[in-house]
Amino acid sequence: MTLEEDRTPFDWETRFRDDDTPWERGALHPAFLHWREAKAFRPGERVLIPGCGRSQELLAFANAGLTVTGADLSETAIAWQSEQFAAAGQRGDLVTGDVLAWQPGTPLDLVYEQTFLCAIHPRLREAYESALTRWLRPGGRLHALFMQKDERGGPPYGCPINVMHDLFPETRWIWPADDEIQPWPHPRLNGKPELGAVLIRR
Ligand SMILES: C[S@@+](CC[C@H](N)C(=O)[O-])C[C@H]1O[C@@H](n2cnc3c(N)ncnc32)[C@H](O)[C@@H]1O
Repeated sequence: MTLEEDRTPFDWETRFRDDDTPWERGALHPAFLHWREAKAFRPGERVLIPGCGRSQELLAFANAGLTVTGADLSETAIAWQSEQFAAAGQRGDLVTGDVLAWQPGTPLDLVYEQTFLCAIHPRLREAYESALTRWLRPGGRLHALFMQKDERGGPPYGCPINVMHDLFPETRWIWPADDEIQPWPHPRLNGKPELGAVLIRR
């Protein structure tokens, strides 16, 4: 399978059209709420949500005063985001297509990663890490939620923390202390925990 074919083996568009989206929490992610409460998101910052789907965090970032870009392969998901912004009288940049091929005009302050890394084929992970280093300015932050699961296959594909340390090496990323990495069980995916971690691009 080529890299290009790897990017769309799963029919996300049909899943959105059929409303078959068990990864959706139907509310803001508790990790997002925790980080927002801790003032980790600052007005004026530029944030990307890759593989944003219909996540409510885009509008919440805009309401918090950040400049938001959401990108997704699914036209249905992007149309939903567009409606949310219009209904709220808010603004956000929405990109339909392969986010791994996207490049911001100005480097970003922040990437908010929620069930995207676990959604792409593991063969694409290095391309994603490389894109993250291109997108973020030095000192920019990756707010990551690493999906934990024991079963093989996916999506979602498991993101064990030792594998994440290899993917995001200390030469390019500053990791938080172990006790700052917090588990957030997913209510609709059998309580599978996502590990919330903020990595800083060197
Ligand atoms: C599991 S869903 C998560 C959606 C959203 N982040 C959420 O938390 O509800 C994965 C999303 O990634 C999108 N996606 C997968 N590969 C992509 C790619 N190469 N470029 C952009 N979006 C992609 C899918 O269309 C889907 O919306």
